Amino acid sequence: MATQKQVSLLRKFNGMLILFYLVSLLLTAPAVYWITRAQTYETAHQELTLLVDMVRSIQGYVGQSLRAPLTQMEVFHSPALSGAVAINLISNHFQKVQPNYYIRFTSDNPLNPQNRSRELELDLLQRFRSDPNLTELVESGMLHGRSTLVSARPNRAVAECLNCHGDAAAMRSEITEEYGTSSGFGYTVGRVEGVMLVGVPIGHVNEIALQRSLAVIGIITLLFTFLFVAANLLVKRTIISPLVAITSMAQAVSKGQLEHKLEPQRNDEIGALAHAFELMRRSLVAMLKRNRSSK
Ligand code: HEC
Repeated sequence: MATQKQVSLLRKFNGMLILFYLVSLLLTAPAVYWITRAQTYETAHQELTLLVDMVRSIQGYVGQSLRAPLTQMEVFHSPALSGAVAINLISNHFQKVQPNYYIRFTSDNPLNPQNRSRELELDLLQRFRSDPNLTELVESGMLHGRSTLVSARPNRAVAECLNCHGDAAAMRSEITEEYGTSSGFGYTVGRVEGVMLVGVPIGHVNEIALQRSLAVIGIITLLFTFLFVAANLLVKRTIISPLVAITSMAQAVSKGQLEHKLEPQRNDEIGALAHAFELMRRSLVAMLKRNRSSK
């Protein structure tokens, strides 16, 4: 009877600890996962803004600082003075040092076949065509087999573009010699003819989030293991063992064995209980002695 009760007390206590453990895992692991994901996306967005601004600065530099004076001088602005060309050339260099990042000027009617829109690029181009109010789209998707956060902007043709993307038959030899006459021409002013894309990698987001969640699970498990062992030792020493001693003393007294002494060493509630039992035993001893001597 006595041993059964001790087991159930400790078991209840351990059950509660395990419940706490599971609840804290259920709360923290998913929270860490989603917070890490959100933070990584936030960082990717910041990088994206930085890169987009850089690319726009290059476009601005080429368009305003390089092209304008040459146009005024009525010198034909060479293909190297087109924002698209400049950015594609810079992007080639950039991607050698930062292969996971992505800068591209693409079109479904390109001068340079390497710039033909593919997959997500084509999809974004068509979305800009179908919704004239769209000025930017930020999306995550697969680009060249990598999970990427992409910012896309439409390239609407203006009259100036026709200098190099106009009628193929009337095109300057600088362009046709290099790119031929089959593609990249016949732009319509006002139509979205291309899309400018900047992308930063996000393929590792889930991996990082998972790793951090696992680390948190590991730390919580370790902490709870310590807590479990320490709390069990404490409960056994401070509650279970003294209760066992008191119980066996009470059982001995009930069988008439009054010499079974209890020596309470502690001044807490359990110590008080042991003390009370000891007093009761002594009173019983005294009472019995008095009874015997009065007989
Ligand atoms: C000075 C000539 C010139 C002008 C003006 C020009 N482009 Fe281009 N553009 C080029 C050349 C050359 C390329 C090919 C770049 C390469 O080889 O990567 C190109 C490439 C592009 C591309 C990438 C797809 C492709 O054709 O390879 C887009 C999109 C584009 N231009 C849009 C425009 C728009 C829109 C304008 C007007 C705002 C414009 N361009 C004005 C010369 C020009």
